[in-house]
Amino acid sequence: MNQRNVYDASLAPDFHSSLLERDAPFPAGAWRQALSEIVGKSEVMESVLHTLGKVARSDSPVLIHGESGTGKELIARAVHRLSMRSSKRFVAINCSAIPESLLESELFGHVKGAFTSADKSRKGYFEEAAGGTLFLDEIGEMPPRLQAKLLRVLQEKQFSPIGSNEVKITDVRLITATNVDLEDAVAHQRFRLDLFYRLNVLPVVLPPLRDRRGDVRQLLDYFLEISNQSHSIANPCYLTSDIYTILERYNWPGNVRELQNLVERLVVMSGGGQIGIEALPGEYRYLKVGAGAGASGRESHSNPTAGLVAKDPIDASIVPSTTVTSIVDILPIGGIDLENYIENLENALIMQALERTGHNKNQAAKLLGLNRTTLVERIKKRKLAPLNSPSKEL
Ligand SMILES: Nc1ncnc2c1ncn2[C@@H]1O[C@H](COP(=O)(O)OP(=O)(O)O)[C@@H](O)[C@H]1O
Ligand SMILES: [Mg+2]
Repeated sequence: MNQRNVYDASLAPDFHSSLLERDAPFPAGAWRQALSEIVGKSEVMESVLHTLGKVARSDSPVLIHGESGTGKELIARAVHRLSMRSSKRFVAINCSAIPESLLESELFGHVKGAFTSADKSRKGYFEEAAGGTLFLDEIGEMPPRLQAKLLRVLQEKQFSPIGSNEVKITDVRLITATNVDLEDAVAHQRFRLDLFYRLNVLPVVLPPLRDRRGDVRQLLDYFLEISNQSHSIANPCYLTSDIYTILERYNWPGNVRELQNLVERLVVMSGGGQIGIEALPGEYRYLKVGAGAGASGRESHSNPTAGLVAKDPIDASIVPSTTVTSIVDILPIGGIDLENYIENLENALIMQALERTGHNKNQAAKLLGLNRTTLVERIKKRKLAPLNSPSKEL
């Protein structure tokens, strides 16, 4: 089931009220509806939506740049819905998911007998999406021969199905997306420069979630609502305030898709009521003690506490001198429950030591400056070891 179907869009108007006023020249309701599924009020996101509004009015190719899970397909659909092609089809294809031999025929179609397995002719997506929008995701994965063919289609606005001499006129709006740096691919001769220019007429850049942490809370609430509704949970799940704090600082390498999956997992596993930090999988609870870049090293530096929670190991040399500053930095305005906080910090460090040592309790105890018995007692008391941890007793 498409989970988005169960979301009550009437909750949306508040999402982007200033934008709704600013970019009014769309058909009544269309702009609001298009934005209703796109959560995020951070400055960067509002600027993306503002661009989206402009791009939707044109018929030129759009290239959406963004890491996996940032919402590229969501944006592409919104552009289509707001465009003059909205009454026609939106066809989405992932270029990396289809083998080269198939991709050509999926895109352009073939006639019967064009190749061994072509026992009947078939329309390609360029034809099926006629009048509408064709969305080619992960365009950077398109093989060179098909890049050449796509370039010809864009230049000449016509194509022929495989095995046919018939020339068909294309009438699709092309939206492409990439999660790799296409300019870098061009520099390394993996992607054609001429095709890049043709596709990148209207670029839209979707920032990773770690660069718009201000949206995390709203995204959590949005997906929580959806998961609660789609599982018809009698006692709806809600998150404790410390879980928001932790997740706002997490680096989200899988971006919004990762957040959506996490919420779904938390709701299913909890079955209802309060969800606290203890319900979070280990990697979300790791505190990176020490300032600086996040897990990817590409952290934006606008947020002084950014990167405090990350997956990568702690550099032992910085712990003693920076622990105090870092904790002071992350003290929320409203304060914290210190004992709870310290226990969570301790748990996160224990988990990390265990995972770093392959669950070798002797080595983990050494890393933590504890004796083995104390460590084992804490692990048992707080039920810390993941269920699937290897029972290696070394
Ligand atoms: N800003 C957002 N608001 C609501 N849902 C979002 C947002 N961004 C992404 N999603 C959801 O996250 C998932 C991944 O988005 P998708 O568009 O497939 O990402 P991408 O194509 O960049 O990998 C989808 O379920 C999508 O609906
Ligand atoms: Mg995608």
